[in-house]
Amino acid sequence: MRLYSRITGTGSCLPSRRLTNADLADELATSGVVTTDDWIVERTGIRARHFAAADVCSSDLGVEAAQQALQAAKLLASDIDLIIVATSTPDMVFPSTACILQNKLGAHGCAAFDVQAVCSGFIYALTIADAMIKAGSATKALVIGAEVFSRLLDFKDRTTCVLFGDGAGAVVLEASRTPGILASDLHADGKHVGILCVPGHVSGGKVLGDPLLKMDGKAVFKLAVGVLDEAARAVLAKAGKVAADIDWLIPHQANIRIMQGAARKLKLPMDKVIVTVDQHGNTSAASIPLALDSGIRSGKIKPGELLMLEGVGGGFTWGAVLLNL
Ligand code: UT7
Repeated sequence: MRLYSRITGTGSCLPSRRLTNADLADELATSGVVTTDDWIVERTGIRARHFAAADVCSSDLGVEAAQQALQAAKLLASDIDLIIVATSTPDMVFPSTACILQNKLGAHGCAAFDVQAVCSGFIYALTIADAMIKAGSATKALVIGAEVFSRLLDFKDRTTCVLFGDGAGAVVLEASRTPGILASDLHADGKHVGILCVPGHVSGGKVLGDPLLKMDGKAVFKLAVGVLDEAARAVLAKAGKVAADIDWLIPHQANIRIMQGAARKLKLPMDKVIVTVDQHGNTSAASIPLALDSGIRSGKIKPGELLMLEGVGGGFTWGAVLLNL
């Protein structure tokens, strides 16, 4: 009998400090940077984001999301045999945020590692966990997207600092005789490294290069809608489904206009799209599991429904996962 993997619990965590666009605009104005709620809402759909306090790391947000997911799955931390954290804002250069989170969770001995695929990180991590479960090398996995992107923002650059926020989302993925994850599709094209990056690195006790986020927003926008559609169509074909079968589209929450474009290409109405970008901003690898958890906890997404998760981000990376909840 074939082995599959299935999501059995979800959780999320947002830092308590919430800034509306007006709050952020007021803060930026103190250093002479001009933006408005109207501009941010019209161009991105974002109305608010959460920023973590200076002493809060990705593992702190991730562990809270993981605990909620374990509770929802009715499992203990000691039941978990694999932890994958998708993050571009790790607590340390090394060890991995997954190892730090494992210790905070009180789970010891299981495999734990990070995945770095920026905003596609959760799609990559979920695909890896699914493959490991299908291969028999794990049975109960925690897959977490956790970010403190506010640490990377240049608050003098209004074209980027209004877009991102902090948070974490988690799922428990368990071995199952019924599917679960039906298909996934991952891609990257390193020729686009420069359009979305944080070019700095640590060397000789110093940060060399610029450690703040740089983005060519128009180039990212143009690529994003096309590659999301390609990935979505690839997983539908692999699973023998069509777009009309999708109950919920859960795209990476970067910009409502990109999400509308992705839905339009699949001929899905926006009421089949889970939208949290308005309240969270772009939380990179955390955005999809945050949106998934929000959709489930609000009662919109129900057991058995067909979900299309799709991500796109720095690298350039992109991918999709089609699953039955
Ligand atoms: O995970 C992937 C992450 N990345 C993304 O999702 C980014 C994708 N790209 C985008 O979302 C959009 O390109 C942006 C939201 C970043 C920008 O939207 P746009 O419609 O491409 O605006 P633009 O860059 O063409 O800027 C239009 C104007 C410019 O002024 P001028 O030159 O026309 O006078 C900007 O200086 O808007 C100005 N502007 C702002 N004004 C007020 C740029 N940022 C702001 C701001 N507030 N925050």
